[in-house]
Amino acid sequence: MKKPIIIANWKMNPETQKEVKKIISFSDKENVIVCPPFVFLKEVKEKLKKAKIGAQNCFYEKKGAFTGEVSSSMLKTVGCKYVILGHSERRSFFNEDNKTIKRKIEEVLLLGLVPVVCIGEKKQEKNDKIAEKYIKKQIEESLSGISLKNVFIAYEPIFAIGTGNSCSPSVAEKRRLFIKNEVVEKYQDGEKTKIFYGGSVNSKNASSYIKEAFFDGLLVGGASLKKDEFKGILESF
Ligand code: PGA
Repeated sequence: MKKPIIIANWKMNPETQKEVKKIISFSDKENVIVCPPFVFLKEVKEKLKKAKIGAQNCFYEKKGAFTGEVSSSMLKTVGCKYVILGHSERRSFFNEDNKTIKRKIEEVLLLGLVPVVCIGEKKQEKNDKIAEKYIKKQIEESLSGISLKNVFIAYEPIFAIGTGNSCSPSVAEKRRLFIKNEVVEKYQDGEKTKIFYGGSVNSKNASSYIKEAFFDGLLVGGASLKKDEFKGILESF
């Protein structure tokens, strides 16, 4: 079996360069995409031999008077190949909506980078239809008219992010199938998109999302910063 792609989302961590070095030392595998904060991108890129790097966000303009923002052309310059977009923390803390996310996706694709588009329902829903309606709207508003050939979609149910309350592989599998059907039926090159699971992935549950729920890869937050956990995840395939 080909090893699944593991995206390490460091979020706003770590605090020091010393810690950056430590995390790099156990992250450098061929199937890993490391997504550190912007300020560490160059250093991480220089130190990694096998893993690739990605960013956690970007702006949709190329340059100009946008204080505090980073463009996808800048990310490309430092060797980024991937950009996480529409993460639920960006949506909730920085009010990013599907329309804004779509503009970012378009710009990232224009530059030849791969957007990792995060979607997922807020609450644990007993009724599948409610979750599906929520996800469908996110897909429609952020991806309509876009070829999905070079787009990754990350299914990250919000209740599972950073909570330790991971989504069961059986529910995750239902959502994966729903997303897959939607994109294959309605979107250009939808059959080519890779679908990831994210939300409280750890060394114990990682393999179930690949072997039982058939995701193409994982988006790992907290556990990507912990040596034993991350090694455990990588060794489970
Ligand atoms: P978590 O985060 O693994 O800490 O739940 C995942 C994510 O937010 O991408």
